[in-house]
Amino acid sequence: MQSQPGYKEVTYGEKTSFDQFLDAEGIPVTHDFIVGDVRKLEVAPWHRRGGYGHYVILGHPKDPPSSAAYICEIPPGESLKPQKQMFEEMIFVLKGRGATSVWPDGGKKQTFEWQERSFFSIPLNAWHQHFNGQGGETVRFIGYTNAPMVFNLYHNYDFVFNNSYQFSDRYHGEEDYFSGKGVAVPEKRVWDTSFIADIEKLQFHDWTRKGPGATNVELEFCDNIISAHITRSPVGAYKKAHRHGQGADILVLEGKGYSLMWLEGTKMERYDWGTGYMFSPPHMWFHQHFNTAKEPLKMLAFKPFGQKFRIGDYEKLFVSTAAGGHLIEFEEENPEVRQMFEEEIKKDGIPLNMPPVQYRRYD
Ligand SMILES: [Fe+2]
Repeated sequence: MQSQPGYKEVTYGEKTSFDQFLDAEGIPVTHDFIVGDVRKLEVAPWHRRGGYGHYVILGHPKDPPSSAAYICEIPPGESLKPQKQMFEEMIFVLKGRGATSVWPDGGKKQTFEWQERSFFSIPLNAWHQHFNGQGGETVRFIGYTNAPMVFNLYHNYDFVFNNSYQFSDRYHGEEDYFSGKGVAVPEKRVWDTSFIADIEKLQFHDWTRKGPGATNVELEFCDNIISAHITRSPVGAYKKAHRHGQGADILVLEGKGYSLMWLEGTKMERYDWGTGYMFSPPHMWFHQHFNTAKEPLKMLAFKPFGQKFRIGDYEKLFVSTAAGGHLIEFEEENPEVRQMFEEEIKKDGIPLNMPPVQYRRYD
């Protein structure tokens, strides 16, 4: 039944169904905690889709992933092949201008245009095709999907890519579906939409629960279970550590700094990054991000979970560990955390912009 050339599942083997799929894709795969500037990541011809690609599977290299991102390039004037799929996907445009056509099985095509910093999603199992609209410049985008979950659950290629079920509750070819309209849910800091022309124009909300001066907007697309958020952090400040399940892939939109990530009871590991880097905290590892630049930090997180269609306990992410949650208040953190940050920013003459703290655990 499986119709992808080279896709042949092995049962009782070490590889998952998604691993088999990746092997058959024939493009480079990076599976690591962190990857360098994705705007420059090498891409290779991608015969199934057209264009060029590179899978970026982030998190602990030994953990089977629940989500997978890829970098895709479309040469000037070219397009990818049409596709529909039983996994969810969000697309963020890194470079260039182009257009995407979307249509339900047997329905009318609609086409919308995008450019650098556009962010959108494809409704589940809708046909779609991406075009590079320019004659002289390549297009490069990030696709973030929950394909591993779906492949491993059903382990059947045709189910994933050749499935006739139409999720008409999510999308049935509405003409204004990709117009950029949306619904704001300010109490949850959410913008619920299908298409964002430019993420710079989004409205941000107070997010000082996570740290001084922080703002954020949560993005829900196309009634997906996957979601995203964009966070801004001021100069000389950092946010509180927290932890959750795997698969939250962070793209550094603008900035320079490092993250500390650790599993409770083990040593904190430091990962340095700059603009264009992507990384992801492994399952239930605490993580905390530090801006060492002279400008505010902007980060985009692609997440396998969201607030609209819940698959887990979202609220606990922001409840203090002292109260049984997953967020470490500044008073509860290891004093070495702030000390390291102060030393780093001092090198560039950046003053600390954090409230004074009285440590509870280390008195
Ligand atoms: Fe997180």
